Amino acid sequence: MSIALVILAAGKGTRMNSDLPKVLHEIAGAPLLVHAMKSGATLDPEKTVVVAGHGFEEVKAAAQDWDETADVVLQQEQNGTGHAVMVAREALEGFQGDVLVLYGDTPFVQPDTLTRMIQARGENAIVVLGFHDDTAEKYGRLVMEGDSLLEITEFKDADDATRAIDFMNSGVMLIKGDALFDLLDSVTSENASGEYYLTDIVAVARAKGLSATAISCDVSETIGVNSRAHLAEAEAMFQTRARAALMEDGVTLIDPSSVFLAHDTVIGRDTVIEPNVFFGPDVTVETGARIRAFSHLEGAHVSLGGEIGPYARLRPGAELAENVKIGNFVEVKKAQIDEGAKVNHLSYIGDAHIGEAANIGAGTITCNYDGVMKHKTNVGKRAFIGSNTMLVAPVTIGDEAMTASGSVITKDVGEGALALGRATQIEKPGMARKLFEMLRAKKAKLSKDKS
Ligand code: UD1
Ligand code: CA
Repeated sequence: MSIALVILAAGKGTRMNSDLPKVLHEIAGAPLLVHAMKSGATLDPEKTVVVAGHGFEEVKAAAQDWDETADVVLQQEQNGTGHAVMVAREALEGFQGDVLVLYGDTPFVQPDTLTRMIQARGENAIVVLGFHDDTAEKYGRLVMEGDSLLEITEFKDADDATRAIDFMNSGVMLIKGDALFDLLDSVTSENASGEYYLTDIVAVARAKGLSATAISCDVSETIGVNSRAHLAEAEAMFQTRARAALMEDGVTLIDPSSVFLAHDTVIGRDTVIEPNVFFGPDVTVETGARIRAFSHLEGAHVSLGGEIGPYARLRPGAELAENVKIGNFVEVKKAQIDEGAKVNHLSYIGDAHIGEAANIGAGTITCNYDGVMKHKTNVGKRAFIGSNTMLVAPVTIGDEAMTASGSVITKDVGEGALALGRATQIEKPGMARKLFEMLRAKKAKLSKDKS
């Protein structure tokens, strides 16, 4: 059975107190919306429709940045979850399979849970995902009779007996596609909120002789983000889970609670991550590497045996081959660094290619930006760049070439050549002593005049 995802993301999220639409606030470097889309994507959907309203253009851009095939439809006014799904009708024209409704602000629904919903579908026209919770008052209540779901009653509309039910609606719902819009056509807004409730399709379906059921999942999967405090809690939950998963996969985290992972961080077995390391999105670290304390990585690839940090910064496009060493206070951006090369201290390497086993001395800078354009630096194999060399790009240093420390290199250096690009040293015998005497005399005179 093919699946279409409908992700509801039109709400404003007033309690976030933000100019940014709620679903674009991030957990582990990805918008809440993308977490929901990723989770749904594990079902290999035929179609993905995102219903957006507040901040439509921004939400659309974020959705399509992650999945360019996603349809993003506009819900001009937020007249309820049922109304939101109706807005997706046109985008689903001609689609034959089942429709899975997810919320853009509910990031943690697990793929296994979605699979269990599909397994529960069978003859049921609707499968609702519920959770047990006896404190959460505001949720819709799932009214069950055995395995049958009779109806969902919103808290506002429920009597005391129904409010006492501890089986809550998470909002995630799987619906037989060819029945969905007929069911929605029968939904009215005659309720306490004056909204079209998606939840009402359960009672409508039963009245039409169709059946519905609900399955349950852990409450941690269904948490929605409504405020900055929730966002921080959700981040913490994500991090706890992601750290545990990495350790399970054979990665050593010396102090797990101080390592921050992105939603897509990949780290190989037997790699060691020291305390206080931050991973932004799109980082892959292969096996047997070591990321030392206080390093910040983003959009980077570290290969087998790489050693990074302490205090290193790898920015997008840092592509490090096997056994590369990047030391303290080194920044690498958009640079290919070949096998065994070393950049050990206080350097900036940007828009560059560093050849294998090259040694980049302390304080080396690739001067890649002329104020308008970026230019490339090439350093050959086994080249030796002396400390404090300024490599003024575009510039190429040949294989096994050397630059003298303190050089400003503005022209290409041939293979095996030594380039000196600094003022010639001159020496004035005895001059230092003379200078000191002069200065001391001056100081003595000054303090005498004062007193
Ligand atoms: C909804 C459910 C409730 C469930 C709860 C779980 C209904 C009527 N109620 O209530 O049973 O327990 O979620 O969190 O479905 N949205 C739109 N357009 C709209 C309205 C909502 O896109 O017109 C989106 C929101 O942005 C949000 C999601 O749908 O992502 C849920 O909406 P929300 O208003 O939070 O629903 P609840 O009142 O919490
Ligand atoms: Ca909600």
